[in-house]
Amino acid sequence: MGSILVTGGAGYIGSHTVRVLREQGAHVVVLDDLVTGHREAIPADVPFYRGDITDEDRVQQVVESHAVEAVIHFAARSLVGESMKTPDQYFYENTAKTNLLVAHLLRLGVNKLVFSSTAAVYGRPETVPIPEDSQTSPINPYGLSKRMIEETFPWLEKAHGLKWVVLRYFNAAGASLDGSMGEDHSPETHLIPLVLKTALGQREAIQIFGNDYPTPDGTCIRDYVHVLDLAAAHVAALNALDHPLDRRIFNVGTGRGYSVQHVVAIAKRVTGVDFPVLYAARREGDPASLVAKVDRIGEILGWKAHYSDMETLISSAWKWHQSHPHGY
Ligand SMILES: NC(=O)c1ccc[n+]([C@@H]2O[C@H](COP(=O)([O-])OP(=O)(O)OC[C@H]3O[C@@H](n4cnc5c(N)ncnc54)[C@H](O)[C@@H]3O)[C@@H](O)[C@H]2O)c1
Repeated sequence: MGSILVTGGAGYIGSHTVRVLREQGAHVVVLDDLVTGHREAIPADVPFYRGDITDEDRVQQVVESHAVEAVIHFAARSLVGESMKTPDQYFYENTAKTNLLVAHLLRLGVNKLVFSSTAAVYGRPETVPIPEDSQTSPINPYGLSKRMIEETFPWLEKAHGLKWVVLRYFNAAGASLDGSMGEDHSPETHLIPLVLKTALGQREAIQIFGNDYPTPDGTCIRDYVHVLDLAAAHVAALNALDHPLDRRIFNVGTGRGYSVQHVVAIAKRVTGVDFPVLYAARREGDPASLVAKVDRIGEILGWKAHYSDMETLISSAWKWHQSHPHGY
C-alpha cells in the first residue's frame, strides 16, 4: 500500500488530518517547513521531513522512499490581512509554489491531489447559503491566490491526468476531543481562539468588529466547521479520487451560520467566564454573512459534519486552550 503525503501536516488542520488518517490505517508522511506549524503536532512515529514544497530533491526523496500515491496539500499562507499588505508574497507562496509542486509530483508519477481552498474565493456572495457554482470574486489576495490554483486543475487533468478534489473550507474551529491537539497560530486571528484566550485572561477583552451589519443582531455571520469534520472530509475526498467525478469542488461547512455575538454568548456559557466585550468599527473586507451550501459534499462524497455544533466546537477548543495555555 502506498502512502499519503500531507504537506503542511504540522499545521492546525493538517495535523488533525494526519491523526485521522492514521486512525484509519493509512500510511502517512509529512512535509512541512514549520513556518507556522509545530513539530510537536505530528506523532513521533509519523515520518516527518522539514522542507519547502518547492524543494524538488526533498519531494522526490519523500515520494520515492515512501511510495507516495496521493497528496493532501495544506501548506500555504492564510492570513487575509497580511495578504492585503503583501499580495506578491501570497501569489508566490500559494499560487506559484503549488503550481511548481503539482508539476513536480506529476513528473514523479503522483497524480492524485486533494487541495485546501477557502470560502474566501467567493468574496461577497450574491446568494447565501453559497452554492459551489456561485461566481468567485475574491476580495483579498489570499482568496485570489487560492482561486488561481483551483483554475489550473481542470487543465492539468486534461493534459496530464491529474485526479483532483478542491475543498473550500468555511471557518475551521475546534480541537481534538482529548484536548491534546488544537489551534496554535501566531498571530491568532480566528474568533474562537481569541475568545477563549480572553476567557483565560490572556487578553483583556474580545473585540467585535461591526454591529451594524444587516444581520439579526448586527454582527457578522459565519459557518464554523470542526477540524475533525474537516479531517474526515479529506479522507472522503481521497477515497473519491479514483472514481469518475463530475464535480470536483466542494464546500465544507455545516450550512448553519452563527453570528459573532452568538459565538461569544455560547463561549461565556461553556467557559463560565464573563469576559469583557468591546465593539469596534467594521473591518475592511468582511462580508456580512458567509454560510455554505453543503448538499453537494453530502451527496457525492457522503460527508456530513458530526462535531460542528457550537457547543462541541467551543468545548473541545476550551479543553485544548486550558491544557495548553501557551500552545504546543
Ligand atoms: N484555518 C481555516 O479556517 C482555513 C479556512 C480555509 C482554508 N484554510 C486553508 O487550509 C490550509 C491549512 O490551514 P491551517 O489553518 O491549518 O494553517 P497552518 O498555518 O496552521 O498550517 C499550514 C502549514 O503549512 C506549512 N507550510 C506553509 N508554507 C509551506 C511551504 N512552502 N512548504 C512547506 N510547508 C509549508 C506551515 O508550516 C504549516 O504547518 C491552508 O491552505 C489554508 O489556506 C484554512
